[in-house]
Amino acid sequence: MNYLKLADYDFSNQAVLVRSDLDSPYDKEKNEIMDNERLSEAAKTLRYLAERGAKVVTIGHQARPGKASFTRLKRHAELLSSYCGQEVKYCDSIHDANARDMIQTLKPGELLVLENVRFSSEETLELDLEKYPTTHMVRDLEPMFAYYVQNSFTTAHRTHTSMVGFQNIPNIAGLRMQLEIDGISKAAQQADRPYVMIFGGAKIFDYFSLMDKVLKEDSVDTILAGGLLGDLCLLAKGYKLGKKMEFLTETDSLAKQKLLDLLPQVTDYLTAYPDKFVIPVDVALDVDGKRQEIPVSELPSDYMFYDIGAKTAALFAEKIKKAKT
Ligand code: 3PG
Repeated sequence: MNYLKLADYDFSNQAVLVRSDLDSPYDKEKNEIMDNERLSEAAKTLRYLAERGAKVVTIGHQARPGKASFTRLKRHAELLSSYCGQEVKYCDSIHDANARDMIQTLKPGELLVLENVRFSSEETLELDLEKYPTTHMVRDLEPMFAYYVQNSFTTAHRTHTSMVGFQNIPNIAGLRMQLEIDGISKAAQQADRPYVMIFGGAKIFDYFSLMDKVLKEDSVDTILAGGLLGDLCLLAKGYKLGKKMEFLTETDSLAKQKLLDLLPQVTDYLTAYPDKFVIPVDVALDVDGKRQEIPVSELPSDYMFYDIGAKTAALFAEKIKKAKT
């Protein structure tokens, strides 16, 4: 895949805007962002640019409106400072006069984090692609920068303003993005078989089309169905889930989609490709804060479950051990 790489540019004395992945886990009890690998990874690209004499400004998001973890990026700047080995300044706005002033007075080698881009209602606007440069965020920020560095692989599938709006300056892949593109290109183009894909978590809308493609192309041997995909597989097999159904009937706020709309398709997949799917045989309930595992034959339960059980994990491990990709 052809794309622009950091190594091909001279950043000395240039203002560079980096879209980082700073979205971090959140400790509810301490009401605080937790240190994590995303920040250390983001820092590698920021440090790379600062060491080459760039004036480095980064934007990023933290969670989504309505979540307790939807916070300012002040703590992120502190944590990034320790990974960058120098102060990472913080500005509590994105593109107002104060932010523009802080950007313009930045010296070569200095670093600055702007505020959570999802504080701006422009971030998640649904526009035709060519309209994103007309947003205030882009019109205010873009003229101050020579380059835009895209380093947020985890949001690379989102048509958000901070992701796709900076169309009039070169868009260069950051170090993390480069690593992910190279890894995923190998998996997509020259995967050794058996090829096992592991699906988990709550963001099924983000990976469903990929699963559809690999099944139809017959380019995958096994799908390990964890997370919400695992739950849908259990529903497709006729299990009743109990308490978990409350969660499954919520609408995804960013995607505005309903999970259960996917059920007929999941049922079709299990019928068409029965040998490719490994689905949960046990789940881990949250019983008043304590983990308790039950076989799926004991469902429905009045308790939520957030995880597969040990027997399912062992089935997954068996497939993973034999996988070449
Ligand atoms: C992630 O954690 O997967 C990314 O930060 C994307 O977050 P989003 O699903 O809220 O866009």
